[in-house]
Amino acid sequence: MTASPGVFDEVRSFPDPGAARRFGALVGLDTTKLHLLKEARLLLDPCALETWAQRHHGSSTSILSTFRDRPPLFIFAGDVGTGKTALAESFGDPIARELGIGVTLYCLSLTARGTGAVGQMTALLAGAFDEIRDVAKRSLGSAGKPKQAVVLLIDEADALAQSREAAQMHH
Ligand SMILES: Nc1ncnc2c1ncn2[C@@H]1O[C@H](COP(=O)(O)OP(=O)(O)O)[C@@H](O)[C@H]1O
Ligand SMILES: [Mg+2]
Repeated sequence: MTASPGVFDEVRSFPDPGAARRFGALVGLDTTKLHLLKEARLLLDPCALETWAQRHHGSSTSILSTFRDRPPLFIFAGDVGTGKTALAESFGDPIARELGIGVTLYCLSLTARGTGAVGQMTALLAGAFDEIRDVAKRSLGSAGKPKQAVVLLIDEADALAQSREAAQMHH
């Protein structure tokens, strides 16, 4: 792994039997799981939507580009203990199995988030995104089809804003 020390506190690879078990054990989230996996598949293989449109509508439609150009971001919101972290940490497993690719999860370190000083967080986040982008670029196979997928998990992301607010958000 090439990640600079401290930015990621954990890197996990899927498929992984433990993750499969944890994903399966999450109850009451069937709709969320379906939605998440479908969206993740589309992100990894944007051509699938094009193929679908050609088959069912005989043409491509402009709304497809809206889909294609969305940021590759999922935000999980909900009460404490409803499975947001568990889902984020395990959904790479079914993706890896379904698409027959390796999926790597990078967890942004909580302690690497800095003290809330203006600019510090931004630099850390930018560094993390740079590293993930490099890994993702190397993961592209031929014809744009991924041979690997990468997930950057920013857990407790609301804390990013809070630490700034508490410290120097007067800017
Ligand atoms: N829907 C669920 N089904 C089964 N277990 C759950 C569910 N939601 C949470 N848990 C369990 O509760 C614990 C806390 O969940 P967590 O993912 O940390 O919640 P959150 O991140 O939403 O606060 C974990 O061990 C998780 O496996
Ligand atoms: Mg959580």
